[in-house]
Amino acid sequence: MDENSAKNQILSLRHELNKHNYQYYVLNNPLISDFEFDKKMNELDRLEKEFPQFADSLSPTQRVGSDISKEFEQIPHLYPMLSLANTYSKEELLDFDKRIRKLIEGEFEYVAELKFDGTAIGLRYKNGKFEKAVTRGDGAMGDDVSANVKTIKSIPLVLQNSGFPDEFEIRGEILLPHSAFEAMNIERLENDEQAFANPRNAASGTLKMQNSGEVAKRKLDCFLYYLLSENLPHDGHFENLSLAKSWGFKISEHSKKLKSINEVFEFIDFWNDERKKLPFDIDGIVVKINSKRLQDELGFTSKTPRWATSYKFKAEQAETKLVSIDFQIGRTGAITPVANLQPVLLAGTTVKRASLHNADIINELDVRVGDFVYVEKGGEIIPKIVGVNLNKRNETLPKFEFIEICPSCNTPLVREDGEAQHYCPNSKNCAPQIKGKIEHFISRKAMNINAAEATVDLLFQNGLIRNVAGLYELKKEQLLILERFAEKSAQNLIESIEESKKVPFERVLFAMGIRFVGATVAKILAKSLKNIHAIMNANYEQLTQIEEIGERIAQSIIAFFNADENIEMLNKLIACGLQFEIEEASLSSNILDGKSIVISGTFEKYSREELKKLIETNGGKNASSVSKNTNFLLAGENMGPAKLEKVKKLGVPIISENEFLKMIGLL
Ligand code: IVH
Repeated sequence: MDENSAKNQILSLRHELNKHNYQYYVLNNPLISDFEFDKKMNELDRLEKEFPQFADSLSPTQRVGSDISKEFEQIPHLYPMLSLANTYSKEELLDFDKRIRKLIEGEFEYVAELKFDGTAIGLRYKNGKFEKAVTRGDGAMGDDVSANVKTIKSIPLVLQNSGFPDEFEIRGEILLPHSAFEAMNIERLENDEQAFANPRNAASGTLKMQNSGEVAKRKLDCFLYYLLSENLPHDGHFENLSLAKSWGFKISEHSKKLKSINEVFEFIDFWNDERKKLPFDIDGIVVKINSKRLQDELGFTSKTPRWATSYKFKAEQAETKLVSIDFQIGRTGAITPVANLQPVLLAGTTVKRASLHNADIINELDVRVGDFVYVEKGGEIIPKIVGVNLNKRNETLPKFEFIEICPSCNTPLVREDGEAQHYCPNSKNCAPQIKGKIEHFISRKAMNINAAEATVDLLFQNGLIRNVAGLYELKKEQLLILERFAEKSAQNLIESIEESKKVPFERVLFAMGIRFVGATVAKILAKSLKNIHAIMNANYEQLTQIEEIGERIAQSIIAFFNADENIEMLNKLIACGLQFEIEEASLSSNILDGKSIVISGTFEKYSREELKKLIETNGGKNASSVSKNTNFLLAGENMGPAKLEKVKKLGVPIISENEFLKMIGLL
């Protein structure tokens, strides 16, 4: 293909893909199948690689993010990014209305909108093109999170139609819809990572991630609700947003122009119920004066506009009886109190259990078995008890005493200084701990051994396994005696166990169940230290030098390998033939052994992803940010100024793409 037709083809594919992105992510109305979409995207990607002279950072191919981490640059807001005053009752809203009417003569319009429960963002555009995305920060300065925001498909990078000011900012809320939040938490729990408490935390956590490639995988969405420019097309806020909708922005369908505060009350009452049907969280409604002229007349206080306020919904609560409190024992021995409740309907689901977290929380709330308690769903995975209805308390109810011995093995519980949780220290013989460890060991992301919870229980009850190493000593004949097993199922289990011996080291490390060593940390440890002996023998300094390994993880690793029982289990697993070192076969050389290299900028011959692979397959480590431990900075075009400055300050040598390729023998 000649240059000219390649250019035309690239431009036309970009235009088409932008349109399909809009149809899918903004209008929820895809016009082509995912398959066809991917085909076009691949074609564009191929052409852009073949003709790099037509690269464009706003191309739809650039929405996948990169794994380069970047410290966020702080930039000043063009307009202060203020918050809103909150009201919690209709009386307070009436006061707001009265204040306005005192200051403004004659009729005016309100706009009532949903109050999205996410994290605020300002998007800047110049000549119809996305420029920058800035977080609220302290209202005067925010973080430049452009790389992450560009991965959000409902945000247009190139505007449609016309009529937009040459330069403007549009503000809105980045949020995570329920479905994406749930999927993400399931995955986090599977990876042994802490679940996010609610979609808002998940959205703001995601937005601040250092790795935009990861951000791209989490399905963030963005609603825009405030247009700012020196040249606004209309006086009406509502009219400006309607126009912004035609430029490709996602603007809520639910905003309404209203004439009086009574109409605002109706809007509130409607959404107080209706919000339960929305696919994302809102925490209230926002009322704004529509006219920009009147907004300017009313102005701002030091923190909030006088022309707008919010009404916050009360969190949904239900009252029910606390029937009993159970204690769950986790695989690490952590004890979690769980309340059994008289079933009650709350936010569309029947709630029977609620978390009580730990002894301190029980004490603080002074909950007693038999009390009537208030339960709330704050987006958490299981609801929580937030209070006791003392009016209904039967005074004969005794104060609740936290257990002192393990309900399973009777061992006295311990509570470390500074920790909220009680633990059962009998890790070797406490049945739920052993079973929990085995279940974790065989789980899909760990050793992927095909056995249900009930099977683990059966094997344990029948004394066939006492720890994870026991799995590798199981014989088919032993299984066949058990009621649950037939020839085929017994054979399958034995084969699945055998197969697990090939599972790569990082997953074996994760399977071992070291506290705080989830799937991601295990991968980092395996990559940096290469084998189990190096990990076992690493001291605190060596561990904490590894990026992402903090004090808490390092201490937990050291404690794990200090326990004789763990060493005993490890030796057995080594003898069984499990993988305890990373596969060096994938290494092409050791030239970069021990070298920490940071990549920055854009490159001519290889993509960043390819360069990262080349670093790793030659024994080096691709670090995400520059520190005193960085050996080289592999620099391309358009490097961020902040990074450049840091590199110069620390005296880190800079190498070009060609120098790097020479180093590893590719040039
Ligand atoms: S307008 C100067 N409209 O709620 C007024 N904010 O608690 C700018 N929010 O800072 C804000 N939905 O992050 C506005 N429809 C909406 C909103 C909204 C959610 C957020 C926003 C704001 C915060 C105040």
